[in-house]
Amino acid sequence: MSADRSGPKRGSKPLAMAGGPPPPRPAPTPAEVRESLIPGVKYVIPVASGKGGVGKSTVSANIALALAADGARVGIMDGDVYGPSIPLILGVKDKPTPGPNGLLPVERYGIKVISMSFFLPPGEALIWRGPMLSKTIDQFLGGVEWGELDYLIVDLPPGTGDIQLSLCQKIPLTGAVIVSTPQDAALRVAERAVFMFQKLKCPILGIVENMSHFLCPSCGNREEIFGSGGCRKTGERLGIAFLGEIPLDTQIRIDSDRGRPTVIDAPESPQALAFRQIAENLVARIESQAKETARSGETRITF
Ligand SMILES: Nc1ncnc2c1ncn2[C@@H]1O[C@H](COP(=O)(O)OP(=O)(O)O)[C@@H](O)[C@H]1O
Ligand SMILES: [Mg+2]
Repeated sequence: MSADRSGPKRGSKPLAMAGGPPPPRPAPTPAEVRESLIPGVKYVIPVASGKGGVGKSTVSANIALALAADGARVGIMDGDVYGPSIPLILGVKDKPTPGPNGLLPVERYGIKVISMSFFLPPGEALIWRGPMLSKTIDQFLGGVEWGELDYLIVDLPPGTGDIQLSLCQKIPLTGAVIVSTPQDAALRVAERAVFMFQKLKCPILGIVENMSHFLCPSCGNREEIFGSGGCRKTGERLGIAFLGEIPLDTQIRIDSDRGRPTVIDAPESPQALAFRQIAENLVARIESQAKETARSGETRITF
């Protein structure tokens, strides 16, 4: 009987032949990508909001400094590539320098900093589309020598855009912190950010109420300019922990504008203590989340 030379029948599986092409490698898991991009970083915490101007960058910087003041190794990545403000808030004058394995982040007040503003001539704006933003996230993660860190705080732009999406898809995140004012208009948009993180399987560690009230320095009267208790109530409704509140305070704004955040400038002031309490609550949330995760046998956010 002659051999059938017609080759494999349509639809039949190709035979694994010696010398044939190797089977395609499975796509790396987020944990493997993280291991290759930021191998020494333990917890990655994006700080997000729906609206702009609610104080994400102020809260990110002060929380990062509060964590460092408690002895943690901390980095802050300014993910707001269109409106980078972390170097201003931290009063950074230096630029990152090249190291043997990537850019060395600038160090300021004991934390490591990277921001798009280091790479933009003063006054110039970034005019980029989505794919470039995704590459920037790659660069800020894998192209920077973060070294060994306990916490990498990522200050995000407002909303639910490309940067948020890229970050969530590239590496496993420990959990997001949502910042909002207690105003309904801000909270409604903050809920969209919550929805996005949940959809992308990033846990939410909690919500911070910024500009929660104003204490009049002359008469001591408490003004609830944006309403009262909105973030706590929204947190309860959505099953999100309330991490604490920061007053609307002129000194916080002044400290940020002159590059000496409140936690550095007046660490024992009531304003700084409010930031430090939030950092403490955040650490407690991370620890309890890690325990829950270990108990449920899930591997996604156990380190
Ligand atoms: N609790 C606060 N009290 C007073 N001013 C604040 C407070 N939080 C933020 N600010 C000021 O509000 C402005 C917006 O804050 P920012 O942190 O840049 O917001 P976002 O990053 O959400 O756009 C800044 O001028 C900042 O100094
Ligand atoms: Mg900002």
